[in-house]
Amino acid sequence: MASLKGRDYLKLLDFESDDITHLLDLARTFKSMKHAGTPHRYLEGRNIVLLFEKTSTRTRCSFEVAASDLGMGCTFLDPASSQVSKKESIADSARVLSRFYDGIEYRGFGQSIVEELAEYADCPVWNGLTDEWHPTQMIADMLTMQENFGEDLAGRTLVFMGDARNNVANSLMVACAKLGVNFVACGPAENQPEAWLVETCTEIAQSNGSTVLVTDSVEEGCAGADAIYTDVWVSMGEPDEVWEQRIASLSPYQVNARVMQLAAPEAIFLHCLPAYHDTKTAIGAKIAERFGITEMEVTDEVFEAPCSRVFDEAENRMHAIKAIMYATLSDEPIA
Ligand code: CP
Ligand code: NVA
Repeated sequence: MASLKGRDYLKLLDFESDDITHLLDLARTFKSMKHAGTPHRYLEGRNIVLLFEKTSTRTRCSFEVAASDLGMGCTFLDPASSQVSKKESIADSARVLSRFYDGIEYRGFGQSIVEELAEYADCPVWNGLTDEWHPTQMIADMLTMQENFGEDLAGRTLVFMGDARNNVANSLMVACAKLGVNFVACGPAENQPEAWLVETCTEIAQSNGSTVLVTDSVEEGCAGADAIYTDVWVSMGEPDEVWEQRIASLSPYQVNARVMQLAAPEAIFLHCLPAYHDTKTAIGAKIAERFGITEMEVTDEVFEAPCSRVFDEAENRMHAIKAIMYATLSDEPIA
């Protein structure tokens, strides 16, 4: 495997299977160190900056805690408190921030923005979520799969239910194909992934002995699966007006007890979070009032069930992001 030092982390299609395996190995090592209380301030004296144009809990906290654990300084910039995009172009911001920082994280809208940032920055740029991709999430998700099914995930099957063409679903298709995991995109025709991505991932999957299936049949999609994954029906940046149509078309793809029964007996439930599984959020309550539903992409029963691994998955975001930052900032083997 070639060193990842100096590389940007923008989307998984840019990486080889063994790069991903390396990031997973590193994430597992960092997780053990963290749990054992072993200090790992390997990047003492470096600094990173976080640019968030969309809201976040897990991604921001993961970068901040990971930076602190690695001995790095960290600056958080939201759209209201910086000049980025409003008074200063992405290209100019990239060149300014590169003079201060060793790495730049960006969460925002189009993938082209993070690509432009990377083109002009002379330090690694990490994609913390765009409309198209969510690549840091993938290392956490595959780490969670490994924790349940062992390090070699080849031949396992992961089903994404619902809005199977969003940033998380797109990224999962690539991650699974690269690791030889069978991937199923299960949703109605209008929420299925783009043909070019399915073709690309099918080729990658074939070379790793796995498959990609796109289906609108819940029975076909979930039969015997090892992991059932879902995400919100309306992603950040999408207009409020799409809720009504999404609820109508995606309700048959809700992850509920019946869906989990179609899956393998030891199947796990995954969700990148945040999740609408009750009405204890402002948006969940508003949707309940407008449409009379109290759960959306996953029922509270499945979310809280023993098969649900969502909080392990959330914790793994931090170990994964630590691994991604370390691998792109240093090629020193860790002790
Ligand atoms: N899963 C995820 O990216 O969560 P946040 O939006 O809280 O960062
Ligand atoms: N698809 C979701 C993921 C959130 C982590 C969104 O983009 O809002």
